[in-house]
Amino acid sequence: MTAPQLQAVRAEFDAELAAAGRDPARVEEVRIRFAGRRSGVLRELEERLKGLPREEKPAYGKALNELKQYISERLEQARRGVGPAREEIFLDVTLPGRAPRLGSVHPVTLVRREIEEIFLRMGYSVADGPEVEDDWHNFEALNIPPFHPARDTQDTFYLPGGLLLRTHTSPVQIRAMETMELPLRLIIPGRVYRRDSDLRHSPMFHQVEGLVVGEGITFAHLRATLEAFVHVLFDPALKVRLRPSFFPFTEPSAEVDITCILCRGQGCAMCSGSGWIEILGAGMVDPRVLRACRIDPQRYSGFAFGCGLDRVALLKYGLPDLRLLFSGDERFLRQFGSEGAL
Ligand code: DAH
Repeated sequence: MTAPQLQAVRAEFDAELAAAGRDPARVEEVRIRFAGRRSGVLRELEERLKGLPREEKPAYGKALNELKQYISERLEQARRGVGPAREEIFLDVTLPGRAPRLGSVHPVTLVRREIEEIFLRMGYSVADGPEVEDDWHNFEALNIPPFHPARDTQDTFYLPGGLLLRTHTSPVQIRAMETMELPLRLIIPGRVYRRDSDLRHSPMFHQVEGLVVGEGITFAHLRATLEAFVHVLFDPALKVRLRPSFFPFTEPSAEVDITCILCRGQGCAMCSGSGWIEILGAGMVDPRVLRACRIDPQRYSGFAFGCGLDRVALLKYGLPDLRLLFSGDERFLRQFGSEGAL
């Protein structure tokens, strides 16, 4: 009998006493089993002491005495209904450990990664820019001068010092055209901010911007690119429809619809009976925007598009409410992207 074995006896005693809780009858059972005069465990251990070689006796005797004292103190405490704190009582060191729970990947992150991959395969690079912007990049250079009505549709959070929280990812187009060499093929995901909050709007949401600038870039390239994108992201059977629209930074501009993924074009509540759902805005980069970035519109042309990532996540996963994405509710979040995808 060695010290580690006495330790094991002690652990066993602790576990049994913990299991007995404050029930006097069960505490008594534990007492009899360990400290019972005739056949208790301690008694047995004492018997063994006698049979040990002389030189081992002192160390063993000492450890055994400590154990006896420990057991009698604990039993006394248990009988009096006092004792170690509750947590200590229920700490059973012999139980298998609890593995740390791994997180899951947020649906918006999953969608962002998927979109990035689709465009990386088409030869694009991923770029990003600051969320705190200046007026020039967020508005002015995008052909949205002060007092332009388009500013009203993007109710802006202004910061001290003439700065603002970007209302879209389009300012990164400007930053890229100002600093990078042509030709450009970029995909730009990021957070954007607007003073908007209701069922379908959150003051912070996500967009992904696309930008291609080079020689001989046409509207046909834009259309083919968007079709390829939609077919890979959702389903090759979906139709893509471009409706004439207006954005200050593109000319011509289009809003892009896809066949409603719920009713497949039959008309349902999600598409308000139209059979189509809008998924992005796009167009040819306005020559004024190119010029603001010191690019010659005679030589270069480009297309751009902007898409709400959260909306794509809602459509792709059939979610009923945008706010689920920002609720931080684990029961919801755990259903997406297992730890393997982290
Ligand atoms: N910036 C626009 C918005 O926030 C989206 C957009 C539309 C971006 C057309 C573009 C574009 O690049 O060409 O609503």
